[in-house]
Amino acid sequence: MKPASRLSLLKPSPIRAITDGTPPGAIPLGLGEPTWALPEPARLALLRPAGPCGYVPHVGLPDLRKAVATFHGATVDEVLITTGSQGALFSLFQAWVEPGTKVLVPDPGFVAYPALARMAGAVPVTYPLSPDHFRLDAEALLQVLEATPDASAVLLNLPSNPTGGGGDLAALRRVAAACEARGLLLISDEVYRDLHFGVRPPGLRDVTDCGVVVSSVSKGWGAPGLRVGWAIGDPAWLTPARVVHGYAVTGTATPAQWAALALIEHSDAILAEARAAILERWEALATALNRELGQTVTPPDGTFYHFMPLPTEAHADPLAFALRLRDEAGVVAIPGLAFGEGGRGHLRLSFAATPEQLQEGIKRLAPYWKPRP
Ligand SMILES: Cc1ncc(COP(=O)(O)O)c(C=O)c1O
Repeated sequence: MKPASRLSLLKPSPIRAITDGTPPGAIPLGLGEPTWALPEPARLALLRPAGPCGYVPHVGLPDLRKAVATFHGATVDEVLITTGSQGALFSLFQAWVEPGTKVLVPDPGFVAYPALARMAGAVPVTYPLSPDHFRLDAEALLQVLEATPDASAVLLNLPSNPTGGGGDLAALRRVAAACEARGLLLISDEVYRDLHFGVRPPGLRDVTDCGVVVSSVSKGWGAPGLRVGWAIGDPAWLTPARVVHGYAVTGTATPAQWAALALIEHSDAILAEARAAILERWEALATALNRELGQTVTPPDGTFYHFMPLPTEAHADPLAFALRLRDEAGVVAIPGLAFGEGGRGHLRLSFAATPEQLQEGIKRLAPYWKPRP
């Protein structure tokens, strides 16, 4: 048996190499998901009274589309409900990325972007983030775009997995104008936008309604297992993606859409609680880093990721270093190199873990950052 040749373009994720084989008792700082309970409105919505559980329209449950539209300041026909934001990304790529073209993706960036580009028959081309805090650097992105005449799509992720860096309005405006001038699909993945520390970071719709924003209930609303996400944009971009999504999965599970509707209807309280949860965890992490390693750290623009500089001697083989942390220290964390060459000098720590796990995890990691006698 031989799988289709397009599969040969997909490399196994180094994240799996770290998380598979996690020893018992290891502190999980690798997870990219909330660890707190599914908020009550969703739990109640899943206990639905007797009645059918039928299909809903391919574009999503009408009330959920309405609620998502209101949340994003969009119209209902600008909303496509998908199976996670991943379902939105897959469908947009399949619908719009012509085989043989190029897709611009951040480096470091979410591991799925290059894979989705390859599955669409395209070649991922990376653009760097700013050298200081790994934020969107419009100048750097536009240089790559200019050198890529056969680009078909550009991906932004604000705030970023794995770095937590966002972007400012001026940078977003420049990138949006350049993509619009070339008629390129600009996708802004904003799944972490509501997990911020203080001011809500800017999003693409603050500067244009020409691109497509993708998001989901997976991070801010604490419900990755529901698998409900969406794409927001001009129906001209969404209609072909709806065709792909419809043939791939028909639609997102109906009970999951009931629960997602309940979550969005209670957004103010749920998102505020999620922010309080990550702030408490961030403070535990920052205190532990200061106590154990003397480091003073500032919170990311958003997300629950801390992109921690690695000791210089770990740069040559960050995967081996992360495996030592896992097997000797009992801490699971993801080497930045898993997200691209630009992440080589860093380790992604997820602080979605409990404050106690964070304190214990940093205590265990500390000896590996201290110069050896
Ligand atoms: C940046 C980013 N985008 C998209 C996703 C996919 O999330 P979901 O499909 O659960 O919305 C993730 C998941 O970790 C992510 O980190």
